[in-house]
Amino acid sequence: MIEINAIKCHIGGMASITIRNLDESTKQALRERAARNGRSMEEEARLLLAELEQGAGSVEVAASGRPQAGPAVAARPSPEPAISGFPAAGKRVLLIISGGIAAYKSLDLIRRLRERGVRVRAVMTAAAQQFITPLSVGALTADKVFTDLFDREDEHDVGHIRLARDCDLVVVAPATADLMAKMANGLANDLASTALLATNRPVLIAPAMNPAMWSHKATRRNAESLRRDGIHFIGPMAGEMAESGEAGEGRMAEPMQVVEKIGELLDTRPKPLKGKRAIVTSGPTHEPIDPVRYIANRSSGKQGHAIAEALADLGAEVILVSGPVSIPDPKGCEVVRVESAREMQRMVEAALPADIAVMVAAVADWRSKGEAKEKMKKEGGKGPSHLELTENPDILKGLGHHKQRPGLLIGFAAETEKIVEHARAKLERKKADWIVANDVSPDSGIGTTEGGVMGGDRNRVRILTREGVEEWPELTKQQVARRLAARICDHLAAVTATA
Ligand code: C5P
Repeated sequence: MIEINAIKCHIGGMASITIRNLDESTKQALRERAARNGRSMEEEARLLLAELEQGAGSVEVAASGRPQAGPAVAARPSPEPAISGFPAAGKRVLLIISGGIAAYKSLDLIRRLRERGVRVRAVMTAAAQQFITPLSVGALTADKVFTDLFDREDEHDVGHIRLARDCDLVVVAPATADLMAKMANGLANDLASTALLATNRPVLIAPAMNPAMWSHKATRRNAESLRRDGIHFIGPMAGEMAESGEAGEGRMAEPMQVVEKIGELLDTRPKPLKGKRAIVTSGPTHEPIDPVRYIANRSSGKQGHAIAEALADLGAEVILVSGPVSIPDPKGCEVVRVESAREMQRMVEAALPADIAVMVAAVADWRSKGEAKEKMKKEGGKGPSHLELTENPDILKGLGHHKQRPGLLIGFAAETEKIVEHARAKLERKKADWIVANDVSPDSGIGTTEGGVMGGDRNRVRILTREGVEEWPELTKQQVARRLAARICDHLAAVTATA
């Protein structure tokens, strides 16, 4: 067998390689090494080039000499994902692009997946190449683009069966009515449909077509068959079509919606909170004074939303009851939007029973007694109107004393002084199990560059339990959320163990 250095030497001597052009003995050595590592020859060659590149500067690689099969790309070792924590990071997606105007969205989809550490290999139908080029797709995947079923070189190197299975998920985006019809009927007359018939991996499709085509009985039948066959769907969405003057159901889901669905399907992280139900409150409440004015506390909702998402990530069924905020909904949660404290309390209590409740909302303590139906007028020289306040219900305290009290009840305490002392009193008064206390005083030194804890992205908390106080270091709000969710898991596991 030829030494691997010889392969490197052969490959390294070329500005651009075609496996077909390697001499027989080098090809054989590459074939054996690829088989040993469970990779295609092309993949193996790319990895070798990547190694070479690290040691000896840049090497241009074109896995095929044929220009339509993808651009010459510089082989690079897998970069660190620019966005960390994506559940499908490190996984491989085979993206099948079929021919519709929405094909342009697949370019963005590739970028969003790659920046999250997902490897993307693309297959394009002939029609897809009428809308976008293999050159742009290949530049974004940094891999060869597969277009032909009867390609001697591809078949020798990767093969359509291997292509269909060397991945964790097959994604069809956009999925045209034509490709859906082929899939539903088991047709295999081009590379895309053959790979879809040959794959043993889960398949996700993002249909995109004119609303009349989507609502046609034939498409409805095909979609139904595909659903029964276990094909996953994302969209289509309702809205404006790319064709002018057309609107309805048929738009391809936006790339980030497809990304989220892919993350969900490929999420193999453990789900220790599966079967548990959690209620989380977040954001401020707005207490109306008149139709245009309200009383509120400062709160961005960032911490509460992050906690809801962290609990959902661990498998909990999460109901997030949120006051008015301007941040996106957390993933994987049912979101109930409210305005006032009384509304929040109603929705929290309607969501009972629950195993876990985390009350993060900055609920306004008071509301105006008797909300004015008309805008209160500023009358010159008379000074400000008198505002009579009345106390709002305490939602946390209500839950603490409720006959359906959640198994683990957690409150928050934003304090500016005597933090532990005040938080401990709150724990007792509201019958909570834990209080997460944070210092929101201007001199807490946290997030000073971004406007303090409230509205900022960082937090330093103490967890008060009946056993004692845990001091956590300064963390991002996401980190606090993940750590709290993990702490909740440990607690519930310990409770189950002693039960
Ligand atoms: O009493 P204080 O507002 O400092 O208590 C903070 C904790 O109580 C937080 O968990 C907050 O969500 C909750 N709370 C509530 N209803 C209120 C006031 C506070 O649930 N009306």
